[in-house]
Amino acid sequence: RPTCDGTVTFLPASDNKKLEKKRGPGKVGIIVALVIFAAILALIIGLLVWHFHFRKDLKSQRIYTGSLRITNQAFVDAYENPDSAEFKDLANQVMAQLKSMYSESPQLSKYYVGSKVQAFRYVCIVNLSLTALDTRLFSKTRSEYSAEEIITSPGFPDKPYAPNSFVQWQLRGDPGHMLKLSFDTFNLEEDCSNDFVRVYDSLVAMDKHLMEEECGFYSPSNPLTFISSRNVMLVTLVTNEEGNFPGFRARVTQIKLACGGKLSGTSGSFKSPNFPSYYPPNTTCQWDIEVPDGKYVKLRFPKFMVSTGSLNHCSGDYVQIVGKSTLCGQQLANTMVTVNSNKMTVVFKSDSSQVDRGFSATYEIFEPTDPCPDKFQCDNKRCVNPSLRCDGWNDCGDSTDERSCKCDASMIQCRNGICKPMLWRCDGVNDCGDDTDELNCGCKTGEFKCNDNQCVSEMKKCDRNRDCKDGSDEDGCSREICKDSTFMCGNGKCITKPNPMCDGQDDCDDGSDESNCNCGKRAYTKSRIVGGQEADVGEFPWQVSLHVKNTAHVCGASIISERWLVTAAHCVQDDPKIKYSQPGTWEAYLGLHTQKEKQKATKKLLKQIIPHKNYNSHTYDNDIALMELDSPVTFSATIRPICLPTATDVFPAGETVSISGWGATREGGSGATVLQKANVRIINSTVCDELMNGQITSRMTCAGVLSGGVDACQGDSGGPMSILSNERMYLAGVVSWGDGCARRDKPGIYTNMPKFRAWIKEKTGV
Ligand code: ARG
Repeated sequence: RPTCDGTVTFLPASDNKKLEKKRGPGKVGIIVALVIFAAILALIIGLLVWHFHFRKDLKSQRIYTGSLRITNQAFVDAYENPDSAEFKDLANQVMAQLKSMYSESPQLSKYYVGSKVQAFRYVCIVNLSLTALDTRLFSKTRSEYSAEEIITSPGFPDKPYAPNSFVQWQLRGDPGHMLKLSFDTFNLEEDCSNDFVRVYDSLVAMDKHLMEEECGFYSPSNPLTFISSRNVMLVTLVTNEEGNFPGFRARVTQIKLACGGKLSGTSGSFKSPNFPSYYPPNTTCQWDIEVPDGKYVKLRFPKFMVSTGSLNHCSGDYVQIVGKSTLCGQQLANTMVTVNSNKMTVVFKSDSSQVDRGFSATYEIFEPTDPCPDKFQCDNKRCVNPSLRCDGWNDCGDSTDERSCKCDASMIQCRNGICKPMLWRCDGVNDCGDDTDELNCGCKTGEFKCNDNQCVSEMKKCDRNRDCKDGSDEDGCSREICKDSTFMCGNGKCITKPNPMCDGQDDCDDGSDESNCNCGKRAYTKSRIVGGQEADVGEFPWQVSLHVKNTAHVCGASIISERWLVTAAHCVQDDPKIKYSQPGTWEAYLGLHTQKEKQKATKKLLKQIIPHKNYNSHTYDNDIALMELDSPVTFSATIRPICLPTATDVFPAGETVSISGWGATREGGSGATVLQKANVRIINSTVCDELMNGQITSRMTCAGVLSGGVDACQGDSGGPMSILSNERMYLAGVVSWGDGCARRDKPGIYTNMPKFRAWIKEKTGV
């Protein structure tokens, strides 16, 4: 065993004799002469109770945890077993010594309640550390040692876990093994500041060994799995006063990690240890690939997620293709590396800090003379499926699959030889790059331009015949008939009084102005976003446009009551230039249709902004915020609240939802003038998590069109994803994030509203 040098001597060997006595002859031989170390890494929990002298009734308990190094003592294997006599004896000595040290200090002695040794470990530690535990850990402590195969939260599965508890499981396997912890059920409160589980790569609860803090729900089809770097692991469960969640069950198994090796043949695959769950820290694997003579090797990474070091230079964990390149971070799906040789060596290395999910890799041979058999070869040497050629998407990465194309009827044939979706014709954006898609777009005077850009005679508008193929010449005609009025009754009668809707007076003979005076109803009974179309006036009366005062539209929001709006937390994060978190920064436009007619909308200032306190700016988890208006708004035909789903609502995959906003109408493009709408579908979370490289939490919902082309985009954030249910519209989600906009296989990600029903009630009373 190595020796440690270092100068900290925390427990002076005042008790040398006793210590030596315990070192029985023949016990795993060890003793390194003078120097020492034998460090243990001990764990001590000192319990300090601070009595507040001035407020006798107020007592608080604090638990401190830290490690001490014992010098002048040899480490014996029995110290690893808390039930051994050797362990108990040494622990008692440590506790006695701590007690006497505290009693020597008059300031400290009155606060010291007791201490407990949690573990001894042989390790070289240079610095002594004593850290206060997270305040949420200051509650009753129960510690269990479990060598069992299954651990569950107390009471599982018969009853929910208890409130106000702190339970920990110290897991220890055989030397030379690692522990694998897999949760098959995980169902805790959503808010990690209330209840949480932490998993440590150590026997003691020290932050630097924390692997992950988890709360909320994980579906059994996407189970949480952790692997330790050595034969120990600590799991803690902390709960606060409210509860009623089922808890968890996890299986603990011992594994011996074997990774790397020799690979041969003409193709094959391998992956990082434990993929797709987190790889262990401090691991090195090497794969030596050798294919038949005369062939070359091509390596592809379908998935690649490896933490970069703090410097972002692959200084942390990395994958090295020896002699070729070193990869780390997140790489695009199917990143490729080729070598012009029949041998390739791949090394994977993880350091002691944060881990990620790792990678999967496949290799195959290629003929030096024919590098892309049956595939299209891009200029950048990638091979893509021939069906991806000329589909309007840049699959090669260098656009070479989109050159010299013959386009089919659903595509615009650009003069420069590329194809683009017909949808993009005449949308004011030069998609072809040579303007072909924007030529011949206008209609002659006296003609009406249909939503699909067809031209029909102006006379045919609102003549009750569908002259445009998409019927858009008849859209919104009822409001044309009630042109100078504010409202059209169910029986077609027009009302001129301002705001007749829901004002408590029957203005229509049929009472239609006073019916449905709650959420989620549109006033007009008849009736971009990328790939969408213009909304009708009043179609999304809960849609709000948030402007930074006297400038432009920044984010969307939804009206949920006379006083409250819901938006995204990422819209209200300060940046160096603008204090987005301050209510005074914003003005909210309600009842707005086109950004050109702000004066027609109702402008409101804000009284307060409440972002969700667990919003995570890296992961966009809990991306929701509330805004209180400085005065209540009066509902009208174009200003109405949307209904909130209840906490238990689920929106099944495949369901159609509407998204709306003034955001960009294409990735990297500029915002829309007229409110845009589009229909997308809810996407299964497991599928979505897979597509989005494991970045989906239970606080997120995915929706989109997987073939691409329809999505929310920059500037739509904070706005509604509305779903029709029982003839009312419900706020199913809040536009949150995405990977680009409208890309194939990249759905839009929305804040999952049912998860926040209770939070909204708590903060707003709504
Ligand atoms: N974060 C964006 C915003 O600030 C919204 C992105 C939504 N993106 C998407 N592809 N659905 O406006």
